[in-house]
Amino acid sequence: MKKYVVIGNPIEHSLSPKLHGYWFKKYGIDAIYEKAQVLDGELEQVISKIKKGEINGANVTVPHKSKVIKYLDALSEDAEETQSVNTIYKKEDKIYGANTDTFGFEQSLFEKHSNIKNKQVLILGAGGVTPSIICVLQKLKVNKILISNRTKYNAEKLKEKFTNIDVVNWGETPSADFIINTTSVGLHSNDLINIDYDKIGTNKFYYDVIYKPSKTNFLREAEKRGNKIENGKLMFIYQAQKAFEIWHKTKPEVNREVEELLDD
Ligand code: ATR
Repeated sequence: MKKYVVIGNPIEHSLSPKLHGYWFKKYGIDAIYEKAQVLDGELEQVISKIKKGEINGANVTVPHKSKVIKYLDALSEDAEETQSVNTIYKKEDKIYGANTDTFGFEQSLFEKHSNIKNKQVLILGAGGVTPSIICVLQKLKVNKILISNRTKYNAEKLKEKFTNIDVVNWGETPSADFIINTTSVGLHSNDLINIDYDKIGTNKFYYDVIYKPSKTNFLREAEKRGNKIENGKLMFIYQAQKAFEIWHKTKPEVNREVEELLDD
């Protein structure tokens, strides 16, 4: 039986075991998928288990997506560009790191028929997932990317890598067509994001990387004003689909049943 694991800290909330477990059953794959709370100092040990074949693959989540890179032998193009790894696998005795969050985000936009070419984008947050979002937006040729983060320094660090982005002060509301929350604000039901929704206008597209709760206050406020909204559920599902494909050479189907699996 093959063994897969998602590593992070905290990790209790992860729905990856449920999703991969569902697909194992559906496609008759003899494997288990577990979650493991892993501290920084334990990362090397996890990678060594993958090297020895004790674990066949791993997903990586907050806060290890960048930290794990130094223990890997090679990176996919997206992982290299974003310095973010969420999927690890072994091939010919080498340990590879891939970033499937980029695919997940792009595919979720594609599925929702969201044409963002030449649009002005405001990203809130400069955390672990933000480089993946920027990478896709650049690929899809948006007109301009503005980043606003509570700690401005973190946004400015991102600008060193992605030189075309502009940094906006936290709390300021520039005009934008597509507004993406990549912060962790919204995970708790009373979390509020301090932007001027009325100033942004209507007929905009608001996207929250958070999918639990399924409608954050950010999305609620946007919807109230007649904007299009989307949470991070499809992004999560499609990053898992890509990881599954890397490990098992089978592209699992994403359908309503899969989406409902992750609902509260
Ligand atoms: P990471 O993904 O890097 O591990 P995180 O704790 O999940 O970190 O936080 C991701 C993002 O949420 C960061 O942009 C963080 O802003 P800072 O760079 O200022 O820390 C943002 N964030 C977390 N809590 C916040 C809050 N209460 N208000 C505003 N932004 C917040």
